[in-house]
Amino acid sequence: MTWRATVLTLFPAMFPGPLGHSLAGRALAQGVWSLAAEDIRAYAPGRHRSVDDAPFGGGAGMVMRPDVVDAALAACADDRPAIYLTPRGARLDQPTVRRLAAGSGVVLLCGRYEGVDQRVIEARGLLELSIGDYVLSGGEPAALVLLDACVRLLPGVMGAAASAEDESFAAGLLEYPHYTRPADWCGRRVPEVLLSGHHAAVAAWREAEAVRITRARRPDLPADRSGDPAPAALPGATVAGSGPAP
Ligand code: ADE
Repeated sequence: MTWRATVLTLFPAMFPGPLGHSLAGRALAQGVWSLAAEDIRAYAPGRHRSVDDAPFGGGAGMVMRPDVVDAALAACADDRPAIYLTPRGARLDQPTVRRLAAGSGVVLLCGRYEGVDQRVIEARGLLELSIGDYVLSGGEPAALVLLDACVRLLPGVMGAAASAEDESFAAGLLEYPHYTRPADWCGRRVPEVLLSGHHAAVAAWREAEAVRITRARRPDLPADRSGDPAPAALPGATVAGSGPAP
């Protein structure tokens, strides 16, 4: 079944953009997922097709009108979650991405201006998501990020399924460093253990590096699993393998 994405935007030409290339682009061409970029302005009434208005209470910027946004949402409403991308939203993380990718698709509302009238957010029960603590000029780049993160998890999209399992966040840790040939590059040697052919030692080294890097860069993530009875004790962890591989 095709995973369906609908993006409501004032700039439909921004899509598929980067998602027309590489893994996501191939999967799009193969029908693994579909993308409909709908112009919100098409739902604006009147000759001027105005989509925004000044905020009640005054202040800078313009607010997207609830009637226009509601009409755009109504035209594509089905069983998919409707998501409003906003810096005010809950932070998008890998567990959320996994949940969305496991469903039938998403409807993404991209805001511009100061935002969207609060009443349509509430009336439509929109899920508000942010991709990070910074402000973009609109939700479109955030929609591209969310879609990229979801599409690569769809069945058949990633060539090597193992690399999706192994990488940053899948096990609650940041990823260990990678090396390829030459073994000596400008006097920088690849860590000896990786050349040893000793699989258990390689796995132990990678685990230790992942823990070290996670502690150093992301003290907010639970990197120390030495005392854990089982990986399931980690919030959000769905992948086994806290110890060295066999
Ligand atoms: N729109 C503007 N900034 C955003 C952000 N950080 N995340 C999601 N949508 C946004």
